[in-house]
This record gives sequence, C-alpha cells and structure tokens, in this order.
Amino acid sequence: MIYSLPAKELKVGMYVIMPVSWLYHPFLRNQFLITSQGDLNEILKSGVEEVQVDSSKSQASEDFQSITHPSGPQEKEEPETDYHRQPPENWNPEKLMTQELRDVIHNVNMPPQKKSVAVYKQSIKIIDNVFKNPTTEVINESKKAIAEVAELILHDEKTSRNLLRITSHDFYTYTHSVNVGILSIYLAKRLYGKTDSHDLRELGAAFFLHDLGKIRVAPEILNKPARLTEMEMKRMRVHPFQSFKILQETGTLTEECRVICMQHHEREDGTGYPRRLQGNEIHDYGRICSIADVFDALTSERPYKRSLSAFEALSIMKNEMLGFFHKEIFANFVLLFTPDKSS
Ligand SMILES: [Fe+2]
Repeated sequence: MIYSLPAKELKVGMYVIMPVSWLYHPFLRNQFLITSQGDLNEILKSGVEEVQVDSSKSQASEDFQSITHPSGPQEKEEPETDYHRQPPENWNPEKLMTQELRDVIHNVNMPPQKKSVAVYKQSIKIIDNVFKNPTTEVINESKKAIAEVAELILHDEKTSRNLLRITSHDFYTYTHSVNVGILSIYLAKRLYGKTDSHDLRELGAAFFLHDLGKIRVAPEILNKPARLTEMEMKRMRVHPFQSFKILQETGTLTEECRVICMQHHEREDGTGYPRRLQGNEIHDYGRICSIADVFDALTSERPYKRSLSAFEALSIMKNEMLGFFHKEIFANFVLLFTPDKSS
C-alpha cells in the first residue's frame, strides 16, 4: 500500500517515493529504502515536506506500521524519474548537485557508460550554474564538484574514456567548458598522473572555469551565428583577463586558475593573446588547456562550420597549427585518442 507521510515522520526501514525529480535530491533513484539516519537527514535537507511510502516494500518495523495515513491509500506507482516536477522552494541546487555527482561517482555498481553520461550531465549543470551565478559560494561549491570529476578521471579509466567519447559537439560556452575540462584533466593525468607534485583537483577546477570571463562579453558577440569581425574579436579577447578578474574578485583565485585563465589562448609562436607570450613564457598548464580548447572548437558544430571528427581535428592541428602548441604535450594529447585495448 502506498500512503503519504510528512517527511519529518519518516523512519529508517521505510521505502520512500520522492515527490520531486531525482534532479532535485541527492539520491540516485526516486524510490528507495531508507537505510540510515544519513538518508533521513538528506531527505529533510532536500526541502521535501511530504513523501509517499510504499509499505509493501518497506522493512517490517513497529514505527511505521502504526502510522495513520491522511490522504488514504494510493495504489499508483510513482515513475522512477519525472523531469517536469518542480523543485521544493528551499532547494539548494549547488549543494545537491555536488552530492548527487558524488553519489554517481562512488556508485561501484553503475556501468562505466551510464556513469559517464550521468557525470557529464551533472558537470554541464554545475558549469551552467556558475556561469549564471558566479558568486564566491557557487564557485567554491562548483570547485568541490569538479574535484570529484577530476578524481574520477584519475582513478576510473573506463568511465573517463567513455567521458571522452560522449563530449557534446554542440558549441555552447558551458558544454565547451566541460569538454575542455575533461580533455585537459585527462591530458594532465597522462603527464602528471605518476607524480604528486601537481594538485590535479585544483587544476581540474581551473580547466573547467577557464572561460568564466565570457559572461562579461556581450551576448550578441558570444552567440553570434557567424564568424566574428576584427572589432568583435577584440572585445572577445578580454575574456581571459575577465576570467582571472572574476575569480580574484570572489576570492577563489589560485595559481592554477590564474595561469590557465590568462594563458589558454597563448600560442608557442607568440601569435596568441592577451599577452603574446612565446615558448617557455607559457606555463605547461596553459599549454594543456590551449590544446584542449582548440581541439574542442574544431570538433564542435558551429552555424558557419561543420564539426570535424577527432581524427580530422588532430590532423589539422598537426599539419596546420603545430607552431601553436608545445610539441611534446601535443604528442601526448594525440595518444589519448588511441584505441583502448582493454575494452
Ligand atoms: Fe577562452
């Protein structure tokens, strides 16, 4: 039998059906058995006031057998997910997204393909949220979430290879940020994975947030469905400095963020921006991000160009742009796309 119950009256052992989509609470499924006080706390924290309980799936307990049911029995099964339901009023998206991402990442039973899709979707939501609301609190929360993604890429080879495959080819600032973030962390893992002299969690956050300054570029330039004029390019070229400035203003700037925000459009041959740095004036972190950034731009669909395959993009980067990139780091990037012999 299914009946309604105020969330604060829930007990361990009850099989609960949440009244909002899984997007709005930290659990992986919308229906689950409450197994701990921690589960009860998470339900209350999610802001849900009333839930449904399925007594046929609950574990026997005197505590919930005796409860009266104000709304009477309901036999209808609740769908596993319902994207159209509204979040509760006091829903805190940043915190719940981090928890949800963490739950997905640490779920040892989830197959790599499914996990990579869930992590990608969560990453997009997190970056979208930062771009809409770049406050100190949101940036810090997003950094924690990105650190979880970095950990996943470092320790779960199968899921992270799947992540590489599923990166979206739609070119939006937030999908681009996530794609560049994933590619860059994966490359950093290849370069630094065996040492502990780099903070890959903080590096990951910097890679994901490298284009944050684009929120200060006029939307008509950012979303223009055609190539930019020289004047528009000039205005676009302020975004590395604006990324740096937003992180500085919000007290969330680290050395990794400073280098990556400021150098991801610099080129080895001195033709980049904003400072026209050359060769070793560019930090390896900036070099990594610039390679991932160009690769994602080439493999993304734009109104004025088709998306290239990974092979086509790498060929163009090798044959026509090699002066832009650090040769050894680029060679390591190419190797990321060799077939995985284990799968
Ligand atoms: Fe950029």
